[in-house]
Amino acid sequence: MANSGGISDQLFVSVKLESPRLAELDLAPHLFGSHPVPGSWDPCKALPLERAATAVWEFSCVVPSQHESLDFKFVLKRKDDSSQYIIEEGPNRPLGCQSNEFEMRTAVFKLNEGKEVLECKVQVETEMLSPFDLAASWRAHQEYFQPSRVRGTHDVTINPGLEGRAKNGFASGLELDLEKYVVPTPNMGSGVVYAANLTENPRSLLQTGSSSNNDTTKDILHSSTKGDSSSNHYVNTMKSAIGGHAPSLEEQRAMFVDRGVGSPNFARPTKETFSMSNFKLDSESKGMPAAEGAVAAAAVADQMYGPKEDRKLAIVLVGLPARGKTFTAAKLTRYLRWLGHETKHFNVGKYRRLKHGTNQTADFFRGDNREGVEARNEVAALAMEDMLSWMQEGGQVGIFDATNSTRIRRNMLMKMAEGKCKIIFLETLCNDQDVLERNIRLKVQQSPDYAEQTDFEAGVQDFKERLTYYEKVYEPVEEGSYIKMIDMVSGKGGQLKINDISGYLPGRIVFFLVNCHLTPRPILLTRHGESMDNVRGRIGGDPSLSEAGELYSRKLAGFVEKRLKSERTASIWTSTLQRTILTAHPIIGFPKIQWRALDEINAGVCDGMTYDEIKKCKPEEYESRRKDKLRYRYPRGESYLDVIQRLEPVIIELERQRAPVVVIAHQAVLRALYAYFADKPLEEVPNIEIPLHTIIEIQMGVAGVQEKRYKLMDAIHPTAGL
Ligand code: F6P
Repeated sequence: MANSGGISDQLFVSVKLESPRLAELDLAPHLFGSHPVPGSWDPCKALPLERAATAVWEFSCVVPSQHESLDFKFVLKRKDDSSQYIIEEGPNRPLGCQSNEFEMRTAVFKLNEGKEVLECKVQVETEMLSPFDLAASWRAHQEYFQPSRVRGTHDVTINPGLEGRAKNGFASGLELDLEKYVVPTPNMGSGVVYAANLTENPRSLLQTGSSSNNDTTKDILHSSTKGDSSSNHYVNTMKSAIGGHAPSLEEQRAMFVDRGVGSPNFARPTKETFSMSNFKLDSESKGMPAAEGAVAAAAVADQMYGPKEDRKLAIVLVGLPARGKTFTAAKLTRYLRWLGHETKHFNVGKYRRLKHGTNQTADFFRGDNREGVEARNEVAALAMEDMLSWMQEGGQVGIFDATNSTRIRRNMLMKMAEGKCKIIFLETLCNDQDVLERNIRLKVQQSPDYAEQTDFEAGVQDFKERLTYYEKVYEPVEEGSYIKMIDMVSGKGGQLKINDISGYLPGRIVFFLVNCHLTPRPILLTRHGESMDNVRGRIGGDPSLSEAGELYSRKLAGFVEKRLKSERTASIWTSTLQRTILTAHPIIGFPKIQWRALDEINAGVCDGMTYDEIKKCKPEEYESRRKDKLRYRYPRGESYLDVIQRLEPVIIELERQRAPVVVIAHQAVLRALYAYFADKPLEEVPNIEIPLHTIIEIQMGVAGVQEKRYKLMDAIHPTAGL
């Protein structure tokens, strides 16, 4: 912006004072100086700084570039009695005459007759402006300080009904043929992916020399059949690796989890500075989820006090084929991973196909086919071995996906897991014939077992035969800890029965499952329309919309009306920030709900700054965030992991809703929500592309999660971050 410094140029001066104590002490910062009468220094004429963020006060002014010498000082005034003031210690501060000058000397105040010292960070910046720059920035300033247009809006509003929409006229004026707005999803093909294909690769089958494993498997199968619980070969071989001692003080200290990393300035321990022992504090540290808040706290508590085997959890699916086991397992895996728990999904079908081929007929699954039964038990044990080995290496939750429909099979699994992990059986039961018929047909369509079957109806017949063989030997779970999901997939209610469930994670899993269902419905995710801060490149704040943003809000209303016109009901969720509320404003006919949890990532001391300003004025913060954007926590603000934690209730509610939901939120928040649906690893979350003026439609249904993107208009100002 600065130009050559011509005669009519002006010097723009920005002064910032920062301390969280000021608000606590009810002190209002001012500045005063030798102007207008040199040497007058009258504190009564001091100018107040404006509060720019929770702990930051700001003052800006324009002075002639060749101004006479100006000195100033900060003074604090009591809010209740401005005649009382405290002048900063030290020499006067000179106001420079050059462009791009910085002054960072801390302001020191003596409080309580010198008994307490208050230090405030200071930042004084100057920039030479041409009259044109000045005019433009004045206009921006006026727009920026326009009062919130949504103050007083209720958390929940229900505006006119469907009849009202036609009167509004937005939609009719916009001629929306939705398909023409479809744009490709980055890095993703279209079409549904069969969930079992995304499960763990059978490492014991892909490695050579797995014969010893097979021998052990046979031992265990043999002993469990006879009800002999003494054969715990597996337990002994693995036990030494865990080391069953109480944690030492050193270990306990090393278990301290503060996942937020920040700059050394704010004395937050970083990964590098805080590794006190061989224990790692980063996301790879054993048994510690890469998470914040409740998840991290629970992990620490479990590590220190919980029974050793409770630190690892195996969710063992039980159920006849086509009961939605793989779907449920995939959904649970996605949820736990998103929260930061190291979770893997082991699908025994994948092991079977690798070892015995994809085209086994129904006969292979007969209960009286000894060879078939043995072969199936063997691959189940191999998958279990792989899962347990992975847990020894640091895995936390294993989801073991197979029918596990007999007691003998379940006994075998329990024996293998003894002393290594806690097992919870998750049984899916379905009595709705329509749902079953639909699932069977879907399975034949998608499962690799029928990939080579050209006659679809013959495939369905074979699968039904397989099902009857399973039904003959099926024994519902009545042993151990279990969760039974009864008719939950029907979309007509259903219920959950639980037995012997305790602990943080099992409790959370139950809560998640009780809220899940398979009623297909779309979820539309979009950022607010372009805001005044997007235009200026500033982060955070509570700005209103730019002209382009307002246009988007009208286009979005038209889109929502058209896309959801056949739905009986839907709801619009926004954050509590005015840019999302204003974006939702033209949408009528649906209830609108404001969620605090949907507010944008809190940029703390960087709130209101541009990325360039952060780089220039807070280089350590900039660097720390660049190095680890997921875990970096803005001083007095949030990290992406914090955002994920606070979004958990939103995810649960999105799972629970049966009607479509339009979520109008912000870049970081939508990255976190989207990562859940698209099953993106946490490390990728901070860089997921969520462009302005684009709607991401997520379809949740029996076939899994599908995505479609609609771009209603271009985003003029890029808002990519660090
Ligand atoms: O720039 C828009 C914005 O929503 C900011 O308010 C927010 O701080 C930022 O995006 C989040 O993106 P990033 O994490 O890439 O900085």
